[in-house]
Amino acid sequence: MNHSNLNKKVYIHTFGCQMNVHDSEKIAGIFSSCGYEQTENIKDADVIIINTCSIRQKAEQKFYSELGRLKGLKYKTPHLKIAVAGCIAQQKGNALFERFPYVDFIFGPNNIDSVQNWIEADRQKTNNPPIPPLSKGSKGGFRTTALDDNPEYHTKHLPLKREGKGRAWVSIMYGCDNFCSYCVVPYTRGREKSRPVSDIINEIKDISKNGFKEITLLGQNVNSYGKGLSEKIDFPGLLKAIHAIYGIERIRFVTSHPKDFSEKLIETARDLPKICEHIHLPIQAGSDKILSLMNRDYPYVKYKEKVEMLRHAIPEIAITTDIIVGFPGETDEDFQCTMNALKEIEFDGIFAFKYSKRPNTAAINLSGHINEKTKSERLSKVLDLQAEITYRKNTEFKGKTLEVLVEGVSKTDKNKLTGRTRSNKIVNFYGDENHTGTLIMVKILEAKQHSLYGEII
Ligand code: SAH
Ligand code: SF4
Ligand code: F3S
Repeated sequence: MNHSNLNKKVYIHTFGCQMNVHDSEKIAGIFSSCGYEQTENIKDADVIIINTCSIRQKAEQKFYSELGRLKGLKYKTPHLKIAVAGCIAQQKGNALFERFPYVDFIFGPNNIDSVQNWIEADRQKTNNPPIPPLSKGSKGGFRTTALDDNPEYHTKHLPLKREGKGRAWVSIMYGCDNFCSYCVVPYTRGREKSRPVSDIINEIKDISKNGFKEITLLGQNVNSYGKGLSEKIDFPGLLKAIHAIYGIERIRFVTSHPKDFSEKLIETARDLPKICEHIHLPIQAGSDKILSLMNRDYPYVKYKEKVEMLRHAIPEIAITTDIIVGFPGETDEDFQCTMNALKEIEFDGIFAFKYSKRPNTAAINLSGHINEKTKSERLSKVLDLQAEITYRKNTEFKGKTLEVLVEGVSKTDKNKLTGRTRSNKIVNFYGDENHTGTLIMVKILEAKQHSLYGEII
């Protein structure tokens, strides 16, 4: 019998994007406000949450193997509760119970507020329900889902347990209306909804009071912020309002969609000193035919024009991007257009992926699906080409002194600290752990493939 949540522990495993990582901070916040402690040791847990990602098949596969491994633990630990959150939860819903009958609760990205009710219902139970039989299709009445439309979710105030020390994430909008033909996100995160300005501002004021120096505004398509709000405001307007908040010294935002990336936004980024010199602007492909099949709504020249405008306005801007190789119908010539785009634009860094078929998306019905071998070859070519460019760009920082926000001890080298420049380059250096969360100046001594090495001055 558990009449209180004291001494109860929750373990949270997060897959996927920053938005999902931030959602886990909300889940952790709710558990913490209900008296739970967060544990890193899964065997100590009373509740296990897996916050899932559905963006590519590989991400989905990783989740299934993780959940499979939990079966033994669940049957050894009868009071253990397992919940599945995130994009796969939303997409698969009840079907997950069929395949994994030991799951107790399934909730989607727009129903994180339901966690509170679930914890309360669990607390009120005087007896734990019996373990359900493992037969196919069996459904215990106590299993719960929270997957429905939650139309007011974007106006709700959820407690947060933030992970980082110096930098904090802030959701400014949920969902996505773009329906890129390869992408599952509009089906998992629903329609685009902007959070009210006053909620965002109040949250950032709080963040600032708690000593954070940097914020990253999150949305699948931040440039279209403001649609559907009663107040008349756009993304540049929101940035101006945020910029006025005392104490915050760095402002970042992800992700920008090239089609909505406006001249006004470029000017705003140029004129507001707290906006960091880094833009993530996913291009996806260099061929107009493929971009059109992807439903991206911009030809390559338009993308390039925006990059040129951006570089003209802010010469020190770092630009990163996402690339998909092996999209259905991608010929060698189309692929060459992507290679040419990388050569022409010279991004500071890229994330490149092999196209992965996702349920419900329009691209699965296109003709000309590419075989795995070709996709792998194309991915290697893209990564090899970019490695050269990234390294060359990194060497340009040698000898320069840059402002770094210290994130803490480096995961790969416990003797060093790690942090990021305003242009989002990772810098490693020797220093005192007490610097974590502060802004310091570092002189760059060496450039590496994925990071810079320097010394505090
Ligand atoms: N909203 C953001 C990011 C969405 S997901 C945006 O529009 O840019 C992050 C990246 O995953 C995408 O930019 C895309 O490059 C990649 N991606 C999405 N769906 C994919 C799929 N089915 N196969 C391969 N990569 C995919
Ligand atoms: Fe997916 Fe496109 Fe929306 Fe990004 S903008 S989340 S790629 S549908
Ligand atoms: Fe994955 Fe959902 Fe993010 S599919 S990338 S966790 S929006």
